[in-house]
Amino acid sequence: MRVKIENLTKRFGDFTAVDHFNMTFEDGQLVALLGPSGCGKSTMLNMLSGILPVTEGKIYFDEDDVTNMPPQDRGVGLVFQNYALYPHMSVLENIAFPLEIQKVPKAERKKRAMEMAALVHVEQLVDRKPSALSGGQQQRVAIARALIKSPRLLLLDEPLSNLDARLRLEMREEIRRIQVKTGVTTIFVTHDQEEAMSICDRIVLMKDGVLQQQDGPQELYDSPANLFVANFLGNPPINNLHGFIKDGAFVTRDGAVTIRYRNFPKELPEGRRVILGIRAEAAIISNNDTHDFTSVIKTRYTMGKEELAFLNLGDQEMRVYLSNEHESAPGSEASFHLRSKGVFLFDEETGARL
Ligand SMILES: Nc1ncnc2c1ncn2[C@@H]1O[C@H](COP(=O)(O)OP(=O)(O)O)[C@@H](O)[C@H]1O
Ligand SMILES: [Mg+2]
Repeated sequence: MRVKIENLTKRFGDFTAVDHFNMTFEDGQLVALLGPSGCGKSTMLNMLSGILPVTEGKIYFDEDDVTNMPPQDRGVGLVFQNYALYPHMSVLENIAFPLEIQKVPKAERKKRAMEMAALVHVEQLVDRKPSALSGGQQQRVAIARALIKSPRLLLLDEPLSNLDARLRLEMREEIRRIQVKTGVTTIFVTHDQEEAMSICDRIVLMKDGVLQQQDGPQELYDSPANLFVANFLGNPPINNLHGFIKDGAFVTRDGAVTIRYRNFPKELPEGRRVILGIRAEAAIISNNDTHDFTSVIKTRYTMGKEELAFLNLGDQEMRVYLSNEHESAPGSEASFHLRSKGVFLFDEETGARL
């Protein structure tokens, strides 16, 4: 099912939690609603599910206006961070519970609950109580319970936040597998950019209730609309160098280093104070006479298969990857090329991309 929202807005008193959102979630996609804590993700999800009335705007499920439709009529499945399973019921009873409410006959309930248990890989555990399950298993049960009514839309609100790091990795792959298998349109709320980047078809990135950018994960990474988007995505975080424009080049704020780059926009505003964003993988050591800038290697350290270095650029520093064969000792000067991707200029005042 396709979900379309128009001017969707939620205010609590004079505080605007979600501010005039317009977008379409395409049928069958897994979309991440991404942003820092408090930016309005849950508020958005709760308006889609109908738990929270909207202040302004419209929600359409395919062609139907569901803006004022009660939650139970919307055909939405919900999964929260705290699995909210019924402790006195078995796994199977938990999964089957939504069908019990719908008065589906017992044999049918059991059959469908077993199918769902198999889909989320808990078929060996159906007789246990939730307290005898790990966090990851409990979340599988919660997902099965949300899917048993064949919802038109699946909403997941930070479903992995209570799990430890290893289990989070495993469960995010599981969510992707289950979503692809069922084909259900899914909105996945997270504050974790890596989670969103790794499993989602699209990312909707928001800040303070305002949409910043929506696109495929790679497009967002390669072409951020503004400084916030560039800084939110990527690990290690993108370098932010403060400086100004001089003769079409970037000069660090203390005048120490000039960076020329073939892909800078033409006609840059002379003297404008800017932030140059350079991803750590976008600067590589030059092995020939040409280069985009030179700098001093301050420290270098190995991180598993890669080696990271901090460079001094006047009073600022930046992080880059070095190849393991490269031998420059800390304190030595090196020349760098900038790749065609991963280098952006932003207006220092507004954060807008130049
Ligand atoms: N019922 C409410 N009354 C007043 N303010 C609220 C209410 N619910 C959420 N907010 C505020 O709206 C903002 C967005 O909240 P929320 O959607 O929960 O953020 P997120 O899920 O992105 O962490 C927060 O500043 C929060 O304090
Ligand atoms: Mg939330």
